[in-house]
Parts: sequence; C-alpha cells; structure tokens
Amino acid sequence: MHRSVKIYLLSAALVFIMSVSAWSATVKDPQIPEAALKAAAAAKARAVKKPVADVKPQEPRDRAKIADKSDYCIDCHRTKTPGIFEEWVLSGHARLGIGCNDCHGAYQSDKDSFLHSGRFYIRTVVSPARCGRCHKQTIRGFGNTAHAKALTNLEGMKSDDPRYPLIEPYKKSGFSECRACHGSRIEIGKDRRPTAATWPNSGAGRINPDKSPGNCAMCHGRHRFSAASARQPEACLNCHDGRMYPEGEIYARSLHGLAYRDKSSRHNLKRPYFYCDATENTAPTCALCHLNGAGLGLLTRHDPAWRLSHNLAHPEALSREAKGEPRTRMRAVCEQCHAAAVAKRFLAAADAELERYQEAVVEPELARFKKLLKKKKGKQRQVVLTDYADFLARTKAYRLNLYMGHPGRTER
Ligand code: HEC
Ligand code: HEC
Ligand code: HEC
Ligand code: HEC
Ligand code: HEC
Ligand code: HEC
Ligand code: HEC
Ligand code: HEC
Repeated sequence: MHRSVKIYLLSAALVFIMSVSAWSATVKDPQIPEAALKAAAAAKARAVKKPVADVKPQEPRDRAKIADKSDYCIDCHRTKTPGIFEEWVLSGHARLGIGCNDCHGAYQSDKDSFLHSGRFYIRTVVSPARCGRCHKQTIRGFGNTAHAKALTNLEGMKSDDPRYPLIEPYKKSGFSECRACHGSRIEIGKDRRPTAATWPNSGAGRINPDKSPGNCAMCHGRHRFSAASARQPEACLNCHDGRMYPEGEIYARSLHGLAYRDKSSRHNLKRPYFYCDATENTAPTCALCHLNGAGLGLLTRHDPAWRLSHNLAHPEALSREAKGEPRTRMRAVCEQCHAAAVAKRFLAAADAELERYQEAVVEPELARFKKLLKKKKGKQRQVVLTDYADFLARTKAYRLNLYMGHPGRTER
C-alpha cells in the first residue's frame, strides 16, 4: 500500500474515532437516569432485529493496480479539486480504501470512457450499476422503483391516463422541462463525454450512458456517500416540494415536521441504523417513514412503494397490489413512537375519508373534465387545462394531508 493511502486511512480512522466518542457523549445525557437508559437499551436489543449487512468489500480484480491508480488521482485531485477530495476522505469508502478509480475507472472499449491526464481511461458519470457491483442488495429491484422509472413513466404514459392531457405538451421536447427532477437521457458526444444538453443531471430517473436507470447520488450526495445525509428531509425536498408537489410543505407544517425542527439539535442522523428513541431521534423524517431500516424487523428499503398502500399521487388513488402488507409495514414505523392502537385509528380514519372524498368530490369532477377536454379546442382548451391542473394538484394535496399532515386541510 502506498504511503499516502496509509496517511489518508489513518486520518479517516481518527475522524471516525472522534465521531464515535462524540456519539457516546450524547448518549450519556446526565438528565436521564442510568437505570432508564439501561432499560431502554435492553428493550431496543429485543425489539430491533439488526439489519443484515448489505455490502461486503468486493475483491478488486487486481488490488495493487487499482490502489495505485487511485493514488495518482488523489495526488493530483487533492489540489485540483480539494472539495471533492475532502468529501471522499470523510467517507466510509475512503476508510476502506475504495478510491476514485473504483467508481470512475473504465476500459478504453467503453463508449463513454475517455483518456484522462494522458494516462487513464475514466468516465465521469457513475451509474447505479457501478455502485451495485458492491452494493448488491441495494441494487436488487432498484430499476423497478418509481424513482428509477421517473422518466420512463412519463415517456410511457398511456393516453387514457387521467393525467395524460397535462403531460402531453411536454412529450415533444422529450420532457426537457421536467429533467431536473425526473431525469434526462444522458447522451455521449463525439468527444466521448456526456453532452452539455443532457448532463450534469441529477434527476431521479435519468438514463445513464450504460442504459441503467436511476441515480444514487440524488439522495446520497457525493463524495461522502453517507446514509446520514439521505436521512434528512432536505435530501427529498430538493424534488418533493412546490405547488404541484405538496408533500414537502405538508411535512413541514405537520406536527412531525414541527417536532423535527424543535428537536433537531438532539437528532442524530448518523446513528447506525437511525433508531427512533427518546434520547436521539424522536421525530420522523421522510426517510424514516419511507426507507429506514431500523426497528421491529424493518430493513432498509430503497423502494419507497414497499410501505405504501395507495397510489395517492394518481387522481384515482388506486390501491397498490398486495394490499394489507404495505400497511403493516408502515404501521411498524408508527409503532416505534406511538401507541399501536392510536396509529391504527389514525390510518383507518384516513382510509375512510379517502374513500368518501374520492367518491363524492374527485370522481364526478374527473368525469366532467374528461368531457370538457374532449369538446374544447384551441384557446378554450388551454383554459380548461389550467383549471384541470389546479384541480389535480388540490385534490392530491388533500389526499396527502390525510396521511401525512393535517387531515381535512386543502389550502392554507
Ligand atoms: C495530473 C493531475 C490529474 C490526475 C493524475 C487525475 N486527474 Fe482528474 N482531473 C484533473 C483536472 C485538472 C481536472 C479538470 C479538467 C478540466 O477542467 O478540464 C480533472 C477532471 C476529472 C474529472 C471530470 C472530467 C470531466 O470532464 O467530466 C473526473 C471524473 C476525474 N478528473 C477523475 C479522475 C480519476 C478517477 C483519476 C485517476 C484515475 C484522475 N482524475 C487523475 C487532474 C487530474
Ligand atoms: C463511490 C463512488 C465514487 C468515488 C469513490 C469517487 N467518485 Fe467522483 N463521482 C461519483 C459520482 C456518483 C459522481 C457524480 C457523477 C454523476 O452524475 O453520475 C462523481 C463526480 C465526480 C467528478 C465530476 C463532478 C464535479 O463536480 O466536478 C469529479 C471531478 C470526481 N467525481 C472526482 C473524483 C475523485 C478525484 C475521486 C477520488 C478522490 C472520486 N471522484 C471518487 C462517484 C465517486
Ligand atoms: C421540482 C421537481 C419536479 C419537476 C421539475 C417535475 N416533477 Fe413531476 N414529480 C416530482 C415528484 C417529487 C413527483 C412524485 C410526488 C408527487 O407526485 O407528489 C412527481 C410526479 C409526477 C407525476 C405523477 C404524479 C402526479 O402528480 O400526477 C407526473 C404525471 C409528473 N410528475 C409530471 C411532470 C411533468 C410533465 C413535468 C415537467 C413539465 C414535471 N413533472 C416536472 C417532481 C418534479
Ligand atoms: C468497490 C466497492 C464499492 C463501490 C463501487 C461503491 N461502494 Fe459504497 N460502500 C462500499 C463498502 C464496502 C461500504 C461500507 C463502508 C462502511 O462500512 O463504512 C460502503 C458504504 C456505502 C454507504 C453507507 C455509508 C454510511 O454512511 O453508512 C453508502 C450510502 C454508499 N456506500 C453508497 C455508494 C454509492 C452511491 C456508490 C456509487 C456511486 C457506491 N457506494 C459505490 C463499497 C462500495
Ligand atoms: C431527484 C428528485 C427526487 C428526490 C431527491 C427524491 N424523490 Fe421521491 N420521487 C421523485 C419523482 C420524480 C417521483 C415520481 C416518480 C413516478 O411516479 O414516476 C418520486 C416518487 C416518490 C414516492 C412515491 C413512490 C411510488 O412508488 O409511487 C415516494 C414515497 C418518494 N418519492 C419518497 C422520497 C423520499 C423519502 C426521498 C428522500 C429520501 C425522495 N423521494 C427523494 C423524485 C425525487
Ligand atoms: C430516495 C433516496 C435514495 C436513493 C435514490 C438511494 N438511497 Fe441509499 N439510502 C437512502 C436512505 C434514506 C438511507 C438510510 C436508510 C436507513 O436509515 O435505514 C440509505 C442507505 C444506504 C446505504 C446504507 C444502508 C444499507 O442498506 O446498507 C447504502 C449502502 C446505500 N444507501 C446505497 C445506495 C445505492 C447504491 C443507491 C443507488 C442504487 C442508493 N443508495 C440510492 C436514500 C437513498
Ligand atoms: C410519519 C411518517 C411519514 C413522514 C414523516 C412522511 N411520510 Fe410520506 N407518507 C406517509 C404515509 C402513511 C403515506 C400514505 C401511505 C399509503 O399509501 O397508505 C405517505 C405517502 C407519501 C407519498 C405519496 C406516494 C403515492 O402513493 O403516490 C409521497 C410522495 C410521500 N409520502 C413523500 C414524503 C416526503 C417527501 C416526506 C418528507 C418531506 C414524507 N413523505 C414524510 C408517511 C410519512
Ligand atoms: C420518530 C417518532 C415518530 C414516528 C415514527 C411517528 N410519529 Fe407521529 N408523532 C411524533 C411526534 C413527536 C408527534 C408530535 C406530538 C407529540 O409531541 O407527541 C407526533 C404526532 C402525531 C399525531 C398527532 C397529530 C395531531 O394532529 O394531533 C398523529 C396522528 C401521528 N403522529 C401519526 C403518526 C403516524 C400515522 C405515523 C406512522 C405513519 C407516525 N405518527 C410516526 C412522533 C412520531
């Protein structure tokens, strides 16, 4: 191993030891009696099934050669791109000796590879398939999640979908207005680099040069690639916020969002497995409800649909297949903090109101708009479309409020 790699590993280990000792310092909060802490720890040991480790360090094809290459990258990039270098030093990857070349290295024969600094074939875009070489558990099924399909879902939307009239105008441009969040189809130019029109792009369902869909960095950032950064609400608000996408505001205005802000100084998003407990994590974040793997046997899931019983974004609020199971999983999340009966009551009330609302309010209006849109042409149709978009956004917000916010709220 090169001397410089050893130094980075040593300093990374130091940072790690320091953060572990800071963590144990917060656990020993003097206001909490020792006995209570012990009881909590014992209860957690019983309740929490330790998630199985997702990753095993993969044996690189030629360890010495790859370590050597990354050493060259590091020597130069620590001054050329110090921000990237420092983020990487702080990552779990650096701690394990996983270097630049493990993610960016390429063969000359790869069509998106280019000769870099006269010596190495590399690529800039790192696809989920690349991460998946080591993160085998995470990549399984990832391509079928709504996130990875965020662009192809738009491209493939059927003309009988009630949302079709609204997305149709964007089809011609290949949804270029939507690519910031839904993703672009990355194209490789004559210089074997991504074209300026299609990359940089951090959309959820981007199609990578190797054809794999999706983007791991959209939640994990780069190059620290920590679980902690993805656990903060901000990792989702990047896309899940705004007039058409009300879930960010709904969360922020809910008692959960309020509690998160109120207690944020105590929150420890770095805590292994991100347990909910009264000393450190007392308010749920988006990731805790939708993806987190700690507690009552729940494993980290990279498919947010795994705990969803309905498709609330769809105007008809279709129920998802395997009804029952997703609800049990979501309730297991609530039960980490609430009395089981209370969470059950809340969700049962939401289900009942959803059914009433869809039948009494949404269905008749959907039918009315469908007729109108068929009849009207030109400018008049444009006016109807604007009303229709507003109607869909308003009713989606109402549904989301039932489950995540203040039931019964439409607009403030
Ligand atoms: C001798 C210095 C040097 C070495 C060695 C080096 N780089 Fe770079 N790299 C640079 C500079 C400078 C840039 C910015 C180039 C520019 O702005 O045109 C860069 C750019 C990059 C980019 C972005 C390229 C783009 O145009 O999209 C990536 C990715 C990258 N380097 C990765 C690596 C990896 C991986 C290695 C090791 C295999 C490496 N570099 C080795 C100096 C170096
Ligand atoms: C765990 C995988 C991983 C490792 C290790 C890694 N990178 Fe990256 N890097 C990425 C990802 C992901 C992107 C974002 C590109 C994309 O959109 O896919 C990126 C982007 C870049 C870029 C272009 C973006 C920019 O802001 O300029 C440069 C330059 C770069 N990396 C250099 C490095 C260097 C130098 C190292 C080693 C110190 C390194 N990378 C290690 C995954 C990695
Ligand atoms: C700010 C990020 C962002 C942009 C820009 C964006 N979307 Fe979305 N889109 C989302 C998110 C987040 C969801 C899923 C959550 C939801 O539906 O509330 C979504 C879901 C959708 C859905 C399915 C759910 C629904 O509400 O009907 C459609 C259709 C859609 N987007 C169309 C578009 C079109 C067309 C564009 C471009 C004109 C676009 N989006 C631009 C973030 C975005
Ligand atoms: C060469 C193998 C390898 C590649 C390629 C790789 N990883 Fe990792 N990754 C690991 C290992 C091993 C760990 C465990 C590190 C630890 O325990 O701290 C890890 C840890 C992580 C973690 C958890 C860090 C934490 O806070 O606990 C995240 C997130 C992650 N990787 C994301 C990615 C992403 C995203 C990519 C692609 C851009 C990627 N990895 C590419 C091997 C790899
Ligand atoms: C880069 C943008 C982006 C980011 C960041 C993002 N999402 Fe999404 N999300 C989307 C889009 C776009 C969709 C809709 C895709 C579709 O239905 O075609 C979506 C869909 C969803 C859905 C509905 C899933 C389904 O199967 O219908 C949930 C739940 C969700 N996201 C939660 C999250 C959480 C939690 C985070 C943060 C940890 C997050 N998202 C981060 C863009 C994003
Ligand atoms: C929608 C946001 C989002 C996307 C996209 C995403 N992650 Fe994650 N990831 C998270 C969150 C949130 C956690 C923390 C989960 C927890 O608390 O249990 C996490 C945890 C992890 C971990 C550590 C926990 C474990 O399961 O071992 C790894 C490794 C990881 N992600 C890799 C990846 C890779 C590889 C990709 C791309 C294929 C990816 N992530 C895409 C949000 C995301
Ligand atoms: C207290 C737990 C909790 C928190 C916190 C939370 N959600 Fe949800 N979310 C839910 C529940 C419950 C549902 C509805 C489940 C169902 O389908 O029965 C839901 C539904 C959704 C949907 C609708 C998916 C669909 O069916 O189309 C999206 C999108 C979403 N959440 C995103 C987010 C985002 C983004 C955040 C953070 C800003 C967040 N959630 C915070 C529990 C939560
Ligand atoms: C990490 C802990 C945590 C989780 C997980 C959690 N909550 Fe909460 N919940 C809170 C906190 C904190 C409050 C704010 C009130 C308080 O201080 O007790 C709250 C408040 C509520 C309220 C009262 C709202 C009102 O208007 O009176 C309801 C209902 C609720 N949560 C439902 C749920 C549901 C349903 C789930 C699962 C989908 C869930 N919670 C998951 C911590 C949590």
